[in-house]
Amino acid sequence: MRRLGLAFELRAALVRRVPPNPLFDALLLVSLTLLDAACAAAASTAPASSDAVTGATAGAASGATTGATADATAAAATAPTAAAVAADAAGQDALRRGVPVYAVHTVVDQAVRAAASQSRLAPYKGLLNGVLRNFLRGRDELLQQALRSPRGRWNHPGWWVKLLRRAYPEDWQALLGAADEPGPMTLRVNVRRSTPAELLARLRDAGIEARLLGAAGIVLARPCPVQQIPGFEQGLWSVQDAAAQQAAALLAPTAGMRVLDACAAPGGKTAHLLESADIELQALDADAGRLERVAQNLRRLGLDGPHVALRCADAADVDQWWDGRPYDAVLADVPCTASGIVRRHPDIRWLRREADVARTAALQRRIADALWRTVKPGGRLLYATCSIFPQEGSLQAGQFAQRHPDALRLPAPGQLLPLPGQGAASLYDGFYYALFAKKP
Ligand SMILES: C[S@@+](CC[C@H](N)C(=O)[O-])C[C@H]1O[C@@H](n2cnc3c(N)ncnc32)[C@H](O)[C@@H]1O
Repeated sequence: MRRLGLAFELRAALVRRVPPNPLFDALLLVSLTLLDAACAAAASTAPASSDAVTGATAGAASGATTGATADATAAAATAPTAAAVAADAAGQDALRRGVPVYAVHTVVDQAVRAAASQSRLAPYKGLLNGVLRNFLRGRDELLQQALRSPRGRWNHPGWWVKLLRRAYPEDWQALLGAADEPGPMTLRVNVRRSTPAELLARLRDAGIEARLLGAAGIVLARPCPVQQIPGFEQGLWSVQDAAAQQAAALLAPTAGMRVLDACAAPGGKTAHLLESADIELQALDADAGRLERVAQNLRRLGLDGPHVALRCADAADVDQWWDGRPYDAVLADVPCTASGIVRRHPDIRWLRREADVARTAALQRRIADALWRTVKPGGRLLYATCSIFPQEGSLQAGQFAQRHPDALRLPAPGQLLPLPGQGAASLYDGFYYALFAKKP
């Protein structure tokens, strides 16, 4: 995923007509990515190659790195010329980012074998072999050409690059680069069952380096499998990004309030709201399967009970689910393109289409407008998305305020950008928050 843009460009240059076989296409793209990483490792100079080998060990099968070094001869055709230096810098990036590194001949051999092993792929064995060998012969030039295109250079669809460039003329490059760096792992302490200091001490005892962040957050120095962190089954904490942890504090529910969480699944913010105050909470989600995850999470955290009602419903179809009693506080964490969390879900950028932005913004508008009806005069609505596209954030919120003259804009962070700081990945995913109060 982290090199797919480059692989798309290489494929476009090397194969005039891609056979209509998704399995072959996937094999071709993966093979090109691995082959490029193999060439970058083998063609790099001695000190750089030891770096590459170190970087490779996380992802490569043992022996692959030895092969990569031993394969320097095979890669002689791809030895770094001045023209290839920039391309190999990108290749070294791939190594750091965990693209597995195998020997050049191993990649070609295994790719062709994989094609031969499947009846649906076998007819393309020769084509695959030819394409990979053509890549080896023309790598310098092919890479230069691929890196000239926004898709190859930034590993995002071209329309996505254009959109960010327009929205963030200063920061678009940093944003695109950061999307290929993994974000930190952040926990939210369930303050009903523990305290941040207590959990931090337990983590230290378990040898897990971490630090406090905000009121109930703990950032791990290194991501760690959930099962290895003490207290998950006991419901002492949840995994939740620091930007997402701001929702509950912004909505600021207090004891006795009637609260609606309109797009609740999988329930990260639902749980946080329930941890924050003794409220009566209605949680909705249009997806029954995902709503079940809300129930599971609340059970694990000990937050379920008669004060919580879960319902599968379309939040925009208010007449279907609303009993007419207005809410003191409404969380509209609306469905979005998820453009703010691509570092955690690298596939998102390739699954979205440009038209999804306007289509999703229209759905968000429909949901937010409908929910406004359910807010009590004097009550609040928090609009949230994990997107960095202005169509889903600042533009959406501005238009909402114009359509609803009874909406008073309250202070809120607005757009949070996942920009790296001082060499470290951003603590925040990309999020947007707008807070409105209904004029009495
Ligand atoms: C961004 S996610 C919510 C994340 C959640 N608030 C959390 O913190 O864990 C958006 C959710 O909206 C749901 N959804 C999509 N369309 C909806 C609709 N029309 N009404 C209610 N929920 C909807 C999706 O199923 C998805 O679970």
